[in-house]
Amino acid sequence: MNDQHFNLVILGGSVITPSGREKTDVGIRNGRIAEIGNLSRTAAAERFDAAGLHVLPGVIDTQVHFREPGLEHKEDLESGTRGAVKGGVTAIFEMPNTSPNTDSAEALADKVSRAVGRTWCDFAFFVGATNENAETLRDLERRPGCSGVKVFMGSSTGSLLVADDGKLRDVLANGSRRVAIHAEDEDRLRERRVLLDRNAGPVQHPHLRDEESAVRATRRILALARETSRRIHVLHVSTAEELPLLAANKDIATLEATPQHLTLSAPECYERLDAFGQMNPPIRDDRHRQALWQAIEAGIVDLVGSDHAPHTREEKERPYPESPSGVPGVQTLVPVLLDHVNAGRLSLERFVDLTSAGPNRIFGIANKGRIAVGYDADFTIVDLKAQRTITNAWIESKSKWTPFDGMAVTGWPVATIIRGKTVMREDALLSDPTGRPVRFQECLIEG
Ligand code: DOR
Repeated sequence: MNDQHFNLVILGGSVITPSGREKTDVGIRNGRIAEIGNLSRTAAAERFDAAGLHVLPGVIDTQVHFREPGLEHKEDLESGTRGAVKGGVTAIFEMPNTSPNTDSAEALADKVSRAVGRTWCDFAFFVGATNENAETLRDLERRPGCSGVKVFMGSSTGSLLVADDGKLRDVLANGSRRVAIHAEDEDRLRERRVLLDRNAGPVQHPHLRDEESAVRATRRILALARETSRRIHVLHVSTAEELPLLAANKDIATLEATPQHLTLSAPECYERLDAFGQMNPPIRDDRHRQALWQAIEAGIVDLVGSDHAPHTREEKERPYPESPSGVPGVQTLVPVLLDHVNAGRLSLERFVDLTSAGPNRIFGIANKGRIAVGYDADFTIVDLKAQRTITNAWIESKSKWTPFDGMAVTGWPVATIIRGKTVMREDALLSDPTGRPVRFQECLIEG
């Protein structure tokens, strides 16, 4: 054995492997997990003392909006991924409602080339479906750096929209990877605009974009997915009523919950946060939040994504409905969920299922999402006992705010390791931005 058998060993932590929780060591060579077992006497270039800490598979946030190109005053790929690694996230999937939209091979390639050398974590990009590009999606979804196709069934931030069944059928019929869906029914949203009260503010947001808007869209997309035999992934589910519908169609449909929908509820969040709690689909009353927790407990929720959607303070302070929808979240996903772990709402194993094993399974990630020999050496190392308060001052996002400002949490990400490189430790950024495209089982694999 030479002097440096491993590049890095993580020693003495509680490691969450597919077999369970185990106090052991992890040896890393050339960016991959090379050995799990007692490595305390093995030579390594670098040693990470994880005694008292939990070593989790790197958290993969499969829904973020990083705004580049075109809206860089809100966020860019560097600032967004900086927030990600500060918050313990090792890879992100980014959404296509930038400017221009990511709806062509050129726009996708442009994003990938912007990301290389500037992102702190690994990345993939969704391509946006439009009323015109259905026939190109089969090719686009298999390109390097692509996490799949995203469909907006209802208008949200930006111009991407595929509202009618005929066009949706065309989108679903062209390709094979799982399609990510924003399920709000455009006709219903339009009908309800007349109910707007210009004096009432964002508290009316869940009324204007009501439960039926979400349920109707989810019902429609499930029928179309069934008809076209296409797998779908329904993003940021917000209503109790969608959960049994989705549970009855598990063979074709998976679903995401967000920390916001699991933590905040109406009307309190609007009274306290005003438009800083406004997002699409809206945060709704407590009945829905509790139903989402039951669906986590029951195993129906497949993953948690942050839907990080930053807007500046000035934009958020515009009078409703000119205030844009969306809240930042990539940096707070891990601490907010760890606090729920500490409160007994989910186990640490379920946390891992929702933030790394789930993304791996649902999107067919080639070699990330579990701690096992051969996988990328991506780790989110957490201190389950750390007591901290989430503050706006901690936020790296250009937006510089979080709806969780002032929230005292127990549990904190203390290190982010990506392909064997420690990128964040105790809130300090180390190394350089060396993010790479995430690779997928079904796709042309580069490198
Ligand atoms: O609230 C939201 N904001 N929902 C979306 O669907 C888009 C996002 C954004 O990009 O701002």
